[in-house]
Amino acid sequence: MTIKGKFYGIGVGPGDPQLITLKAVEVLKHVDSVAVPKSRMDRESVAWEIAKVHCPLNIRLMELEMPMTSDEEVLQAAWQNAATQILDVLHTGKSVAFLTLGDPSLYSTYTYLLNLLKKELTPGQIETVPGIMAMAAAAAKVNQPLATGDEPLLVLPGIEGVDKYPEIPNLVVMKVSRNLPEVLRNLRESGGRAVLATRVGQVGEEIRELTEQEEMGKVDYLSLVLINR
Ligand SMILES: C[S@@+](CC[C@H](N)C(=O)[O-])C[C@H]1O[C@@H](n2cnc3c(N)ncnc32)[C@H](O)[C@@H]1O
Repeated sequence: MTIKGKFYGIGVGPGDPQLITLKAVEVLKHVDSVAVPKSRMDRESVAWEIAKVHCPLNIRLMELEMPMTSDEEVLQAAWQNAATQILDVLHTGKSVAFLTLGDPSLYSTYTYLLNLLKKELTPGQIETVPGIMAMAAAAAKVNQPLATGDEPLLVLPGIEGVDKYPEIPNLVVMKVSRNLPEVLRNLRESGGRAVLATRVGQVGEEIRELTEQEEMGKVDYLSLVLINR
């Protein structure tokens, strides 16, 4: 059961509606409203596509506009606006579940919203429900570990140079659409195995090993690379 006036941050997993936790499903079945961030209002949210099969048909959907921009002022205003809309609903005693792709704790815009809501709500009014991260789903698809034994694992947000950490054998490069040529250059220099995973568990899923000769064009934003070297 969901609690009146409570805010839930729900990790819905990477794409496959079966890769969502029982706990998340339980919240989605009983919550009053579901909030989804949208970079473009004319497109369906991927997180909502995953979650909707678990929600009652009459659930209230709140679409929160989040422009894809690095302009801090624009982003702050959008998050403040989203927080205000959510607080308005919570103050009427209704519960709200905000959806995030994968897990809410990893490079998720949920964090910005959470920081604003923490100023207005008590800790007991906020519950974050973890989800399966895209990197775990990608590793599972290729039946490979992310790390074994005492090996370290480094997760990069894509903008950092992968060649800065030559001693780390296992890397995950998120948001890789920003710098795939750099990943490929590093692969040629250091050897090793790299798997490009796009839209894991979603329509358009593509998973393949990258070769040293590879010439890459643009890749989908929902792509990551697993490197073992
Ligand atoms: C803003 S981060 C969100 C990460 C997410 N919170 C998680 O736990 O996986 C977005 C990046 O996650 C990765 N990503 C998310 N979903 C993915 C999927 N289904 N397949 C491949 N990569 C995905 C991509 O690297 C994308 O650029």
